[in-house]
Amino acid sequence: MKVLIVGSGGREHALAWKVAQSPKVTEVICAPGNAGTAAVGRNVDIGANDLDGLLAFAESEKIGLTIVGPEDPLCRGIVDKFDAKGLVAFGPTAAGARLEGSKAFCKQFMRDQGVATSDFGVFTEVAPAEAYIDSRTVGQVVKADGLAAGKGVIVCSTPAEAKAAVRQMLVDHRFGEAGASILVEDRVEGEEASFMALCDGLRVVPLASSQDHKRALDGDEGPNTGGMGAYSPAPVVTDELAKRIMAEVMQPLARGMAQAGTPYRGVLYAGLMISGDALNVLEINCRFGDPETQPVLARLQTDLTTLLGAAASGGLAGLEPQWDPRPALCVVMAAGGYPGSYDKGHVIEGIDAAQESDDVVVFHAGTTYDDSDHNGGRIVSSGGRVLGVTAFGDTIAEAQQNAYTATRKISWPDVQYRTDIGNRAVNR
Ligand code: GLY
Repeated sequence: MKVLIVGSGGREHALAWKVAQSPKVTEVICAPGNAGTAAVGRNVDIGANDLDGLLAFAESEKIGLTIVGPEDPLCRGIVDKFDAKGLVAFGPTAAGARLEGSKAFCKQFMRDQGVATSDFGVFTEVAPAEAYIDSRTVGQVVKADGLAAGKGVIVCSTPAEAKAAVRQMLVDHRFGEAGASILVEDRVEGEEASFMALCDGLRVVPLASSQDHKRALDGDEGPNTGGMGAYSPAPVVTDELAKRIMAEVMQPLARGMAQAGTPYRGVLYAGLMISGDALNVLEINCRFGDPETQPVLARLQTDLTTLLGAAASGGLAGLEPQWDPRPALCVVMAAGGYPGSYDKGHVIEGIDAAQESDDVVVFHAGTTYDDSDHNGGRIVSSGGRVLGVTAFGDTIAEAQQNAYTATRKISWPDVQYRTDIGNRAVNR
């Protein structure tokens, strides 16, 4: 079977790497992919949002399974298009992807299903938003309703900060159309964790837990990013808590979607805040997390193609993913300046040396081959998040040590990375 993977980040390299290990798979093709995916399969120059181009390609190449990485094409209805042509695609339809595509829809849906999430208001005008902020007694988080490439969330400590965030979105249009409607919600404290599950429209199968590091700098300082590192499992998600997350979050959401006539197939990803016994859902995403997917899939021992194909066609019954018991930890190496503006085109040295050990795999994100005379086909940086250096260890501390030993072998002129990925788990 030929498998098409849509997207070009570290998540997509991890998906391609895992899918390529399946004896069922004859070829892995990535659209558009990166330098890492080119090494496990073939890249084709079709953008992740070129839905018609992807559909025509999948038909002409007789693709057996398409796996959609990013949220944008899912929200635009790529799976609906593939379904209509009888092509198997892993991911929710546009109706299901609204859980990520509209934060207001998601909050209301969670409320309707009895899923724990903080109080909120939805606004399109400044005055009622400011009055709402004045009526609250805790800090607020202001969110653009629509997709804003992971940047449309401003965490505020004071009413003045929250009001400034409202104005940035509704008056200055900082996030464009995505911020034309906003959500103002109570800020909750605790430890964050990511929990992903596969859904087949009816059944929900949990994946291993993980924890992301969203801030750019050590000690959770600096601006929010797409994620600067992750590890799996997340010790904060005990077995008992995992059962509660399934019963109190995942199953109610999947059941609610089915009852609404929009059965959910794909990854259901809950961003959680955990404090003692209290469980609060911060957000729902409709796809694999990035970089959480890198350590989670590194640990997966079951054939990923079988699992995702089953989820896409309603056949998850009886399937239970098996995991390497060793923890895995991923350090994201980013371009200097990320998540603000950054340079591209720096030659990256040391990737092969970094993955000499069987316990290390370097997932590519913003990389490409530079065929110019000057760089002679070497791998160069082409995005903000450039690499995800992922390592195993017998303990989380050992995985951390192995990941950083490998990370230090890789260099380019303006590289930046956090030096404390996993510390929370190590220090528990
Ligand atoms: N790592 C956060 C996300 O994938 O949204």
